[in-house]
Amino acid sequence: MSQSTKRLALYGAGGHGKVAAEIAEQIGWDDISFFDNKYGEKTQCGRWPIVGNELALFERLNEFDSIFVSIGNNQIRANKQTALIDAGASLAILISPRAIISPSVQVGYGSLIVQGAIINIGSQIGSGVIINTGACVDHDCNVEDFAHICPGTMLSGGVQVKKGAWVGIGSSIIQSVVIGQDCLIGAGSVVVSDIADNTKAFGVPAKIKH
Ligand SMILES: CC(C)(COP(=O)(O)OP(=O)(O)OC[C@H]1O[C@@H](n2cnc3c(N)ncnc32)[C@H](O)[C@@H]1OP(=O)(O)O)[C@@H](O)C(=O)NCCC(=O)NCCS
Repeated sequence: MSQSTKRLALYGAGGHGKVAAEIAEQIGWDDISFFDNKYGEKTQCGRWPIVGNELALFERLNEFDSIFVSIGNNQIRANKQTALIDAGASLAILISPRAIISPSVQVGYGSLIVQGAIINIGSQIGSGVIINTGACVDHDCNVEDFAHICPGTMLSGGVQVKKGAWVGIGSSIIQSVVIGQDCLIGAGSVVVSDIADNTKAFGVPAKIKH
């Protein structure tokens, strides 16, 4: 292997992992390996090999230039990413070359920006965030650590999505709304007012579900 080979380990060999691996390949990671606790029963994730379980990943951290946690569940991704940083891992940022992102935007480590996503001027994207396929984050939004903006979701200007919140597929959030920490917004919702922390809400307009 040449000295310039860039080695990336992905933790989490599901469908989301495949998406992350393909983006990694497109932006120049040329040696990509998966780790997953299904190692043994599963040997491949897409066209990439699964080479070990979680324990093996922690033992082999120094073999890789960077690590990426490719797990869709916000809480699990947060836990694994935190443990990896504590163990001294360097985390990658994976941004599809087919996303459109204002040069003013900063994206935190461990985040994934998928094809077709648009992030407009003045927005901030935290660490371990997923901005999924075709999602739009308009100007001056703040998407905090470990949030997930699902495919096709639209955030208007000035929306705040707090830590660990999940905004379901195809939702629309009107301007300046705050989606609280660890909220779950159901698929296809239209959110027209703030949603308190730890709340599940869905529908048009979105209503709180207890
Ligand atoms: C909201 C959600 C979490 C389900 O919550 P839940 O409390 O378990 O709801 P249930 O499945 O028990 O459904 C309760 C009722 O709400 C309705 N409902 C569920 N999700 C809904 C949604 N997104 N919008 C409108 N109504 C919804 C159900 O049809 C059901 O109606 P009924 O009581 O008249 O039969 C889930 O449906 C959802 O939307 N998840 C997001 C999925 C997603 O975005 N995936 C993207 C992956 S990248």
